[in-house]
Amino acid sequence: MLSILFELTMSFPALRPAVQALQRELVTWRRHLHQYPELGFQEKQTAAYISQRLKSWGIPHQTGIARTGIVATITGEEPGPVLALRADMDALPIHEANEVEYRSTVPNVMHACGHDGHMAIALGTAKLLQQRRHRLRGTVKVIFQPAEEGPGGAKPMVEAGVLKNPEVEALLALHLWNNRPLGTIGVKSGPLMAFADRFQIEVIGRGGHAALPQQTVDTIVVGSHIVSALQTLVSRNVDPLQPAVVTVGRFRAGDTFNVIASRAEIWGTVRSFQAEVRDLLARRIEEIVAGICQAYGATYEFQYERGYPAVHNDPAMAALVEQAARQVFGSEAAIVPEMTLGGEDVSFFLNEVPGCYFFLGSANPAKGLDYPHHHPRFDFDEAALSIGVELFLRCIENYTGKTLD
Ligand code: NI
Repeated sequence: MLSILFELTMSFPALRPAVQALQRELVTWRRHLHQYPELGFQEKQTAAYISQRLKSWGIPHQTGIARTGIVATITGEEPGPVLALRADMDALPIHEANEVEYRSTVPNVMHACGHDGHMAIALGTAKLLQQRRHRLRGTVKVIFQPAEEGPGGAKPMVEAGVLKNPEVEALLALHLWNNRPLGTIGVKSGPLMAFADRFQIEVIGRGGHAALPQQTVDTIVVGSHIVSALQTLVSRNVDPLQPAVVTVGRFRAGDTFNVIASRAEIWGTVRSFQAEVRDLLARRIEEIVAGICQAYGATYEFQYERGYPAVHNDPAMAALVEQAARQVFGSEAAIVPEMTLGGEDVSFFLNEVPGCYFFLGSANPAKGLDYPHHHPRFDFDEAALSIGVELFLRCIENYTGKTLD
């Protein structure tokens, strides 16, 4: 209704029709990026493509930040706050199984998480902001970040000073989300995504003949006790009101049926939301390994690698996104508090400035677009692209206190 009113009173198109008119271009950019996916810190063609578009719209930007990252700056004609948007750029080492015309052209590399869509949304937002600079109060930095899937591009981008000069006051980021239907959004304040750590245990025993166990230290038996005992960490050591996960994802030992294995390899991941829980788990895992190995006469090697910090949303910024979502979706029912034990390096930005990271529903089961993220058949409903652009723009309006219509 509001947009119709503005259309009648102004010659410049209102925001919503302008966003809707962008949908075809959003799809074009997304599909191009989808066809030429690149792994973390190798996003060279990706960066060149983004840079070309920004240049053609006259948007000043810096390339080569943290190797392949880009920061574009759109300065409104009226001075005001500095807000940043962040999109990740990298693909995954997965061979695409979809038979679509925009299928990945690179064997074993695929945008299977939706980062192609994130870049398209960020480009679309930048383009419309640049067109509306005369209506924009303040400055918007659009950050294209490499290597979210690992080893992590957010930290080196922060270290390179992307939040400075001008000083960023708040940051927004989104993730297309096939765990939610199109036309919905997952947003909540406070803890959102987990610390995502990993561990590697090597149990060292003494191999030998399967029929002469008295001469050996059987690492499969020792390892099995370790795997079982690790299950008690969350149930017996962690405060039941604190979420945590300990998962063993790999257990390798032995080669054949009649030889006792001299070594066993146990790899796993640890997820938690609170720093104290994280420290407790890191310490207790090694204590369990040490105790069990000692009891059975084995020795061990242990590595614990701390991954991305947990993601916490600022309450005021989360409220800002919810307000934007009500404007875009027109319904409270579309807004759901969403939290996951997945990890995300957007936390390196959100540890520096208040912000909100949210999940944009992108699944459409009727079209077969509901495979999970990181699946070789992952794909999403592209109608989510223009919704993402409008959400970002409404957030900017609400933050700067000035309409872009
Ligand atoms: Ni992702």
